[in-house]
Amino acid sequence: MLIAQISDLHLRPRGMPAIRLVETNMLVARAITALMALDPRPDVVLVTGDVVNNGTPDEYETAQELLSRLPMPVYAVPGNHDHRENFRKALQRFPGVTSHPRFVQYAIEDFPLRLVALDTHIPRSSAGEMCEERLAWLDKTLAAEPGKPTFIFAHHPPFLCGIGHMDKIRLIEGGERLESIVRANPQVKALAFGHHHRPIETVFGGALASIAPGVAHQVELDLREGEPEGLLNMEPAAYRLWRWDGERLVSHMAYVERFPGPFPFVED
Ligand SMILES: [Fe+2]
Ligand SMILES: [Fe+2]
Repeated sequence: MLIAQISDLHLRPRGMPAIRLVETNMLVARAITALMALDPRPDVVLVTGDVVNNGTPDEYETAQELLSRLPMPVYAVPGNHDHRENFRKALQRFPGVTSHPRFVQYAIEDFPLRLVALDTHIPRSSAGEMCEERLAWLDKTLAAEPGKPTFIFAHHPPFLCGIGHMDKIRLIEGGERLESIVRANPQVKALAFGHHHRPIETVFGGALASIAPGVAHQVELDLREGEPEGLLNMEPAAYRLWRWDGERLVSHMAYVERFPGPFPFVED
């Protein structure tokens, strides 16, 4: 099973850039074209939040149009830049989005790897949380299928990474409980996040926890102490490809753009 993970699309109304700088609509269209050209083609696409930049209905029109180009199932969760109600309304035809009455939380049972989507959104906040209700849902959902290999995806990472301004707006509530739930459920093979616009990995509750780069702009790698200003840059846009072979889940990072090559390994 091959899973593509795209993150932090920050889509805008038609013809408008994000942050007065980044042509996110064009960059996301390029990422979608790159996914469709993959051989083998991913079985599913996960969208780990910040689908749009300001949460407005006209931005979700762009999202609906672009994501509908993907022929495989698309599973999305909201990020801090999303607006939960507008997200649920505009993306309701995407599976799982409205299955929970309040949150965008759902489990997909159609594949060898069970996919569990978590909603870490806090209205009008850049940070994320897992409240009691969402944690209880996760606990119950994982307990229902303890023997099935499981892959969790959400927007806000629950761990510190050293980039100060992003750490401040990580999953600030419920992270410890989330980690103990993951630890108690060894069927959880990995957790995939977005939000930090960089490729980052660690171990969380005994599972691989991974952050995908952005498919549009990236966040500057800045590990200085204190609180340096958060900056973005235009490092190459990238996504993750997760390959499950029935025993092991492997994460690849792949660039959207093409570079010189490929060349054969000839002898000198
Ligand atoms: Fe983002
Ligand atoms: Fe975010």
